[in-house]
Amino acid sequence: MKKDIQTREDLILLVDTFYQKIQENKRIGPIFTDIAKVDWTHHLPKMYDFWESVLFGNATYKGNPMLTHFELRDKATLKTDEFDIWKNIFFETVDDLFKGDNAESIKEKAKSIADLMNFKLNPPKPRINII
Ligand code: HEM
Repeated sequence: MKKDIQTREDLILLVDTFYQKIQENKRIGPIFTDIAKVDWTHHLPKMYDFWESVLFGNATYKGNPMLTHFELRDKATLKTDEFDIWKNIFFETVDDLFKGDNAESIKEKAKSIADLMNFKLNPPKPRINII
């Protein structure tokens, strides 16, 4: 039976598995590997801290994800399609590995943050009514 996400070790497994799948994805993998040339030894521990802060409220993560993605948007396409792929891979990874309240909660939080990030990066154009 699958267990729930309970410890930092669980988050490490989730994050490592997620970014493995991300790297293998033809559409958004290259954003990480070719465009941003991510240093995984640096990025993965940062993401363990990020999710520990988001899920367990331990303020281990210090950073500004919005700024990072605003800078990335100048070099890569970061729109609804890319966020949908990101969310699908994240949800699939959580469901493959875990089951329980925290597993549901981390998916909801990931969705909220991804949707807000997408909204801020791609604000809707104001509609001008001529008549
Ligand atoms: C298509 C969607 C996304 C792409 C392509 C993307 C890509 C990236 C890249 C390339 C970095 C920089 C890694 C580095 O050089 O160290 C990064 C950092 C990060 N991303 Fe994303 N990301 C996406 C969505 C998200 C979402 C939805 C979240 C949160 C739920 C998120 C959370 C973070 C965080 C916390 C960092 C570290 C920021 C820092 O403190 O430097 N990303 N992302």
